[in-house]
Amino acid sequence: MILSPSILAADFCRLGAQIEEADKAGADYIHIDVMDGLFVPSISFGMPVISSIRKATKRTFDVHLMIQDPIRYIDTFKKCGAEIITVHYEACDDVDAVISAIHAAGCKAGLSIKPGTPTEVLFPYLDKVEMVLVMTVEPGFGGQKFIDYTLDKITAVRKEINRRGVSCNVEIDGGVTRENIDMILDAGANVIVAGSSVSTSDLRSLFARSTFC
Ligand code: DX5
Ligand code: ZN
Repeated sequence: MILSPSILAADFCRLGAQIEEADKAGADYIHIDVMDGLFVPSISFGMPVISSIRKATKRTFDVHLMIQDPIRYIDTFKKCGAEIITVHYEACDDVDAVISAIHAAGCKAGLSIKPGTPTEVLFPYLDKVEMVLVMTVEPGFGGQKFIDYTLDKITAVRKEINRRGVSCNVEIDGGVTRENIDMILDAGANVIVAGSSVSTSDLRSLFARSTFC
């Protein structure tokens, strides 16, 4: 299991210190939610913030772009320190071109779907990306409730990955709690984003499960 705490839930007054805490508490990735007020209703933060926090940790920056036409900004996010760049299927005119741009920039590529988008749209890309991200809430805000029907989407994408024998990671994002984490792992997710439920001081124990931790 790869843990990717989301900084959207951080106290932005102490962002650097909180990222250092997450690092010490056992985070594998740092999940960075970029929102443009167009693809999603909210606006979060952008390049200057990501460049600044790059100094706070060596952990992998897992940048989740909730922006329209992300191809415009791939090189810029790479320069800011992104290592994994995830874009939304729904936000791209030409998904193959965006994946190529991410790889050309030297980053790993992730492809995400909203809860209402059919899981099958991911299938043509499973051998082209390093990660798929199944949103388990509507993208745009932290602190929402996990949408139960997304469990079937996680199961479906994991089944297809196994059937093809490809090594794509399955990330999930939104509404993760101590109560539902076992179900999510059982469905086949292996990269877990968590925002509001994370207390950085006990990041690993939040997700403690004998088979994983
Ligand atoms: C929502 C973001 C998430 C968010 C998760 O659009 O993509 O990464 O920070 O927050 P929680 O864990 O509070 O649902
Ligand atoms: Zn996210």
